[in-house]
Amino acid sequence: LEQARRPSVIWLSFQECTGCTEALLRSHAPSIESLIFDFISLDYHHTLQAASGDAAEKAREQAMHEHAGEYLLLVDGSIPTLKGTSTIAGINNLDMLMEGAAGAAAILAVGTCAAYGGLPKAAPNPTGARSVEELITDKPIVNLSGCPPIPLAITGVIAHYLTMGALPEVDHLKRPLAFYGENVHDRCYRRPFYDRGLFAETFDDEGARKGWCLYKLGCKAPETYNACATIKWNQGVSFPIQSGHGCIGCSEPNFWDKGGIYESV
Ligand code: SF4
Ligand code: F3S
Repeated sequence: LEQARRPSVIWLSFQECTGCTEALLRSHAPSIESLIFDFISLDYHHTLQAASGDAAEKAREQAMHEHAGEYLLLVDGSIPTLKGTSTIAGINNLDMLMEGAAGAAAILAVGTCAAYGGLPKAAPNPTGARSVEELITDKPIVNLSGCPPIPLAITGVIAHYLTMGALPEVDHLKRPLAFYGENVHDRCYRRPFYDRGLFAETFDDEGARKGWCLYKLGCKAPETYNACATIKWNQGVSFPIQSGHGCIGCSEPNFWDKGGIYESV
């Protein structure tokens, strides 16, 4: 990685909650400091850049012009297709995505919103939200799904692209196999309880206190592919199931509309 060139990276944020950027900031291998000071030139990122207003937009335009055909475009958030729903510097999100994608060598769709539409695309989808791959069909795209994605999945794929000069191998949903190749349920530390038929029935019963399987409380991990049970979060400290909450399948397309784990009362 140290021998790699420092390519230009442009990060566009659309309909998102900034959780993906929060995840990026918590990566430790490589760390965000090492990534942006040593390995990439992060030329545009709403939340992280020092510049604002006209200077920020000028930096985006300059990077697109000077590194046309070479820069890596990262996108978080879904894209509203109803014009006027969301603009940046007076530019519709859809137009900004198209402009940014035109000169990109490759695109990383960061988070389930960019990858599959996510929460903004959930019914009734008032903004006409679409994912990156629904709108851009002529560029190589990798989807880093998750709400948000595991930090190492973001920086790991950037590091792979820098060192190998190519995007990593992906599954049928364009997710890198290194991070999304395994089922969360298959690697869950509560799996022995599932296999023995020991389930928590409520969030505060004896089974819950003993760490039994959360399947009967709606855990969606058997249909979910992600590295949460192995890489975990916060430098390997924990993940949703370890904190006592079933997986909501946040790395899968349309997870919000597929049926959540809560009932309205
Ligand atoms: Fe599988 Fe979820 Fe039970 Fe873990 S808690 S064993 S992931 S169903
Ligand atoms: Fe998401 Fe399930 Fe992991 S909710 S963070 S894929 S454990």
